[in-house]
Amino acid sequence: MKTKPYIQDTSSLGYFVGVTLDRFIKSMQDDFPYATGELSQLLRDIALASKIVSREIGRAGLSHVTGAYGHTNVQGEEQQKLDVVANIRFIRALSKGGEVCAIVSEEDDEVIDLQNKTGKYVVAIDPLDGSSNIDVNVSIGTIFSVYRRVTPLGSSIAPEDVLQSGVKQVAAGYVLYGSSTMLVYTTGSGVNGFTYERSLGEFFLSHPSIQAPASGEIFTINDGLTPTVGLGVVEFLNTCKRKGRTSRYIGSLVADFHRNLLKGGIYMYPASSKNPSGKIRLMYEANALAFIVEQAGGLATDGSRRILEIQPETLHQRTPLFIGSKGLVEELMGQL
Ligand code: AHG
Ligand code: MN
Ligand code: MN
Repeated sequence: MKTKPYIQDTSSLGYFVGVTLDRFIKSMQDDFPYATGELSQLLRDIALASKIVSREIGRAGLSHVTGAYGHTNVQGEEQQKLDVVANIRFIRALSKGGEVCAIVSEEDDEVIDLQNKTGKYVVAIDPLDGSSNIDVNVSIGTIFSVYRRVTPLGSSIAPEDVLQSGVKQVAAGYVLYGSSTMLVYTTGSGVNGFTYERSLGEFFLSHPSIQAPASGEIFTINDGLTPTVGLGVVEFLNTCKRKGRTSRYIGSLVADFHRNLLKGGIYMYPASSKNPSGKIRLMYEANALAFIVEQAGGLATDGSRRILEIQPETLHQRTPLFIGSKGLVEELMGQL
């Protein structure tokens, strides 16, 4: 009988899609013989919620979910309707999944206790990052950190389950709702990025083993802050300008971070007289991105400390943040 080989690589035909997020998570889990699959399920829960949020964002201008919700959150910031929608979607997915015992969210003053004594994990989340960009159709995101609870299973949750430093993260990631929707995450062995294929309803591995360029040409800051930040930062900005580097600022941390991660650059949100502790929140913004950037070969600092080693004292604590390519962060540190 005549046979012919099965052609597996269809990339030259233009319809290559590759490994799904589900299959990738499963293959990572298989590398750990004692893994129970709960973290894998948790990541799938987040991916599912992000698909729903991506759909809501995609039709935001048509479905009356743009604009303010009419409340301010614990930060004193006006909540947008999509902040509230995204918060509900992620909390619902995480509570139904059964792996999580507690959630810290930007949109909730207190810890959300899911009353799930068998839940092994704690999640910190910024459900919708870059809210000021929602109504003007500019990229926004979601940021999440996953911790293992420290109190024994079967007991009620305690503050030490929640207030863990970033080095304790077991997984972290972000979703970028941009020109395409992407999910980027790490479980501590490299960083991988997945692009959402809307018609198939699946994330596919599109950016395997992301490495932050060792240095780069992009510097990212809200320049309006410059008159009120420390002299070291001003000096570094002047150096960037003298060297002819490129300034880029979107105003959505996820989008600014993602661009710099792929192209090489530094994101800065320093302390200023308006925000003496900076603006970025340690638990659900800085820590996740710090874990990712370090896994990709970059650095994240508050100016004197490694972000991942800061012990959080409160849920919504802020931190100055300098994050990105190793060479640029080191150059800045030399001028602080
Ligand atoms: P959020 O929308 O979750 O409150 O976060 C907004 C953050 C961050 O995404 C962004 O980098 C920064 O605020 C922008 O701040 P400025 O408007 O002060 O530049
Ligand atoms: Mn945010
Ligand atoms: Mn937010």
